[in-house]
Amino acid sequence: MALLQDTRLLLRKVKDLRCLTPRRNRVKEKWATTRAKYPPTSLALQHFDATYGVELGKLWPSVRVALLSERKYGALLNNYYHGAALEDFEAQGCRDFISDRDTEGRVFFFIISTGQPCTEQESDVAGAEESSGVSMKKSDIDGQRLSPLQLSPNIKCVVFPRGDITRFKPARPDVCGLLGYYLMDAASVLPCLALDVQEGHSVLDLCAAPGGKTLALLQTQSIRFLCANDVSVSRTFRLRRVLHSYVPTQFLTDQTLRITSFDGSKWGEIERNTFDRVLVDVPCTTDRHSLTEDDNNIFNKMRTSERRRLPQLQLELLLAGIQAACPGGEILYSTCTLSQIQNLRVVEQAVQLAQENHGISLQVVDLRPLTHMFRKTFHFTPDLHLGEMVIPHLAANFGPIYMCKLRRLT
Ligand SMILES: C[S@@+](CC[C@H](N)C(=O)[O-])C[C@H]1O[C@@H](n2cnc3c(N)ncnc32)[C@H](O)[C@@H]1O
Repeated sequence: MALLQDTRLLLRKVKDLRCLTPRRNRVKEKWATTRAKYPPTSLALQHFDATYGVELGKLWPSVRVALLSERKYGALLNNYYHGAALEDFEAQGCRDFISDRDTEGRVFFFIISTGQPCTEQESDVAGAEESSGVSMKKSDIDGQRLSPLQLSPNIKCVVFPRGDITRFKPARPDVCGLLGYYLMDAASVLPCLALDVQEGHSVLDLCAAPGGKTLALLQTQSIRFLCANDVSVSRTFRLRRVLHSYVPTQFLTDQTLRITSFDGSKWGEIERNTFDRVLVDVPCTTDRHSLTEDDNNIFNKMRTSERRRLPQLQLELLLAGIQAACPGGEILYSTCTLSQIQNLRVVEQAVQLAQENHGISLQVVDLRPLTHMFRKTFHFTPDLHLGEMVIPHLAANFGPIYMCKLRRLT
């Protein structure tokens, strides 16, 4: 009798425990037996341990812990919203990290050349490096200013303080049905700021869906014409839905916005030397997603060849973006991976091939002034020789975001 009671008690406890497990984390027995021995998330972790352990060295253990922990969001404020979103957030202890930035600091410039003659001053620069056949010159010259970065005063993104992992509530519509804010990784706003969109610019967003960065670009309210493209038709629908949930229809006319679903890598064949600014936010191994979600995971064994082809696709997209920009125009390459093969190597190859195959000379624009401004909000990789990267950190769990900006000289 006592044994029966004990068994019943035990069964009840097991049932109670089951209720504590969120539904999405429960696994049905019959599925558990057919589950992959190595789920994609484990394969991703193995792969990252092997590569980032080497590439990031002693930074990797803390980045790893952060990547496996809950990520932090920012709320991109919608200027078209009728309401006091910023004041409401400030009352909750949030701050707009863009206006609350570090404004003092040094000025740098950084040039990558592809066989172009360089000035005496450039050739004197110490620290010349050779990598993948592209000659790199990195300089750190105080007091010299190469077109300073003008941050749009209209992009606002609020975050909770460092170490505070409070979640944002879902945005609610105003009287016109527009939402007050868009939740995204706050570090994803940096490529949009770095793109430095000016009044009257025409902008191409080559891989735009689901549209977080497109929306941030539109918040500048200075774009004359925006073309938002994504190869995926379903994701382009999502992008359109996002834009219509935030921007009044009178600003989304055919004269100001074009949404397309082309293969971006072929853009150079369609439209060359056209845009003042081009954002190339490429598909990548999306490291955080790959470590935390088995669904739609690029480390799924069935997607191995797709994953291996990523650097080539990224290179083709960046080259197409470079061709789409006008001479003097600027191109921002970004990813959400820590991988050097998908980041620096792609940029190095693109710079070289743009010169060799298309006669386009490029300059790498120094983004250190930007990282300097936002160093109290994000953790950046120190001493990256090409581009800048936000690395996840437990106290500021944003990123990873890699970005590199190129300027067309010809
Ligand atoms: C990192 S996501 C872009 C995120 C987006 N910029 C944002 O901020 O919401 C990469 C996108 O590239 C798209 N893509 C993949 N291959 C492409 C191609 N060949 N041409 C254009 N877009 C492509 C994917 O459909 C995906 O939506």
